[in-house]
Amino acid sequence: MPTPNPQAMEFLLSRRSRPAKTLKSPAPDDEALRTLLTAAARTPDHGKLEPWRFIVLKGDALQRLAATVRSTGERLGKDADTIAKAEGAFSNSPLCVAVVEVQKPSEKIPAIEQTYSAGAVCLALLNAALASGWGANWLSGWASHDRTFVQEALGLGSNEKIAGFLHIGTETSAPPERPRPDLDAITSWVSE
Ligand SMILES: Cc1cc2nc3c(=O)[nH]c(=O)nc-3n(C[C@H](O)[C@H](O)[C@H](O)COP(=O)(O)O)c2cc1C
Repeated sequence: MPTPNPQAMEFLLSRRSRPAKTLKSPAPDDEALRTLLTAAARTPDHGKLEPWRFIVLKGDALQRLAATVRSTGERLGKDADTIAKAEGAFSNSPLCVAVVEVQKPSEKIPAIEQTYSAGAVCLALLNAALASGWGANWLSGWASHDRTFVQEALGLGSNEKIAGFLHIGTETSAPPERPRPDLDAITSWVSE
């Protein structure tokens, strides 16, 4: 018989992100964050390529990033509201971890599997933060897909992409549950 872990299952069946704009300080300190990152790096990774890395952003770095988002939005012709919202995501963030997908050359492991692994790291970090009692939210945003922004603001190489910005802090309000998928609509049971 399997050995159940009811607390882990209860967490997985009730986990819910906390909107980034509702997060405030304090955020996890460096030691607490190292534990969350250690949990996130414990993620399935075909071929042990480790096709991801973390950039921890706090304090002045977040303000610098917010300013670069503003200039990126102006360059891309975004409207004022869109720019202000994206800027605020960084300037108001108590702590942000950029999860970077790092494509590694491999004859065996397809690029898409490295992308999946980077996405899995994002969810693992989100869940580790939530399970530790922090509020957390996985965001991307239009700037994260702009090559000039990610190169200049975050130093990403040509083989790297932002898989997610994980905002982590103290929740100020718990959001209501959102609709969840109809399991029967997305599941086929095949036995013969
Ligand atoms: C790759 C990815 C990027 C996302 N980017 C954004 C975003 O830029 N803005 C946003 O409002 N939500 C974004 N979301 C959705 C938020 O994470 C949202 O809070 C999430 O769907 C809540 O899921 P949960 O309730 O299961 O935790 C993104 C989700 C994923 C997976």
